[in-house]
Amino acid sequence: MEITGRHILVTGANRGVGRAFAKMCAENKAHLHLVVRSEDSNLVEELKSEGAKSVTVWTADLAKRESVNSLVAQLQGTQIDILFNNAGQLTGGLLESQPIDEICEMIQVNVSSLIQLTHGVLPGMLERKRGKIINVSSITAFMDLPANSTYAATKSAVAAFTRSLRVELKDTGVTTLLLIPPGIKTRMYDKVMGAFGSHIEMPDKTISPSQYVKMIREAILHDLEVVQPSGMMGLMFKAARFAKPVFDFEIARRFHR
Ligand SMILES: NC(=O)c1ccc[n+]([C@@H]2O[C@H](COP(=O)([O-])OP(=O)(O)OC[C@H]3O[C@@H](n4cnc5c(N)ncnc54)[C@H](OP(=O)(O)O)[C@@H]3O)[C@@H](O)[C@H]2O)c1
Repeated sequence: MEITGRHILVTGANRGVGRAFAKMCAENKAHLHLVVRSEDSNLVEELKSEGAKSVTVWTADLAKRESVNSLVAQLQGTQIDILFNNAGQLTGGLLESQPIDEICEMIQVNVSSLIQLTHGVLPGMLERKRGKIINVSSITAFMDLPANSTYAATKSAVAAFTRSLRVELKDTGVTTLLLIPPGIKTRMYDKVMGAFGSHIEMPDKTISPSQYVKMIREAILHDLEVVQPSGMMGLMFKAARFAKPVFDFEIARRFHR
């Protein structure tokens, strides 16, 4: 699908991957719809000066069901060509050490709001026979890492939801793109290392948000179904899937409570 001239809704657009993605879309002269927790006039001006055809801001706290209800209601009648469900939270560490309220909030943001937004935007896409839904899973959803159970549970749910939807949407003109990112150097990545790092030694390999967004751009333009990790993280991803006993043994060896 083209990016130029399309109406693109991005959640978590104020920083990290979401902001880099919005910048790339602006440079490609898209109409941007940003979902953020609070207004940011600098962000709007920046994206306009980078080339966005228009920038609309929708404020919503995706951790709150009523806020997502209101966002979906406000979006009715707005033509969205690409929905990028990017906003996410992370909890990590040994399960018993994670505050349950934080876990439930993460599930609401990472899974429930993503499904609800997709549910809200999809009928319009089906009517127009055109649309793309982009969801973010994680390499950790495929690795069964200790100290990562809750975050991985949400990202496995995102992967399963997206893959099922892909088949369901066959021949409708609406497609899905599943992102399985490696480490991307954002505020969340720094939190990852804090949450898991004291329990398991993992390679500290990252790419920048702008590098990752180039891969998303190519995947949109070529209508790919999935973006998998490459390089060293790609090898680990493959090992976790195709050499599971060896991978699990190595992970268990590196883990300590
Ligand atoms: N970075 C990585 O290594 C990595 C790897 C795999 C997958 N991912 C996934 O990639 C996506 C983007 O992550 P990132 O690395 O860019 O993280 P980030 O820098 O922490 O950004 C997270 C974004 O989500 C928004 N968000 C969080 N809670 C929200 C809420 N309740 N309501 C509305 N917005 C909320 C944040 O807004 P505020 O500024 O208002 O908090 C922020 O814009 C996430 O889904 C993440 O799970 C990241």
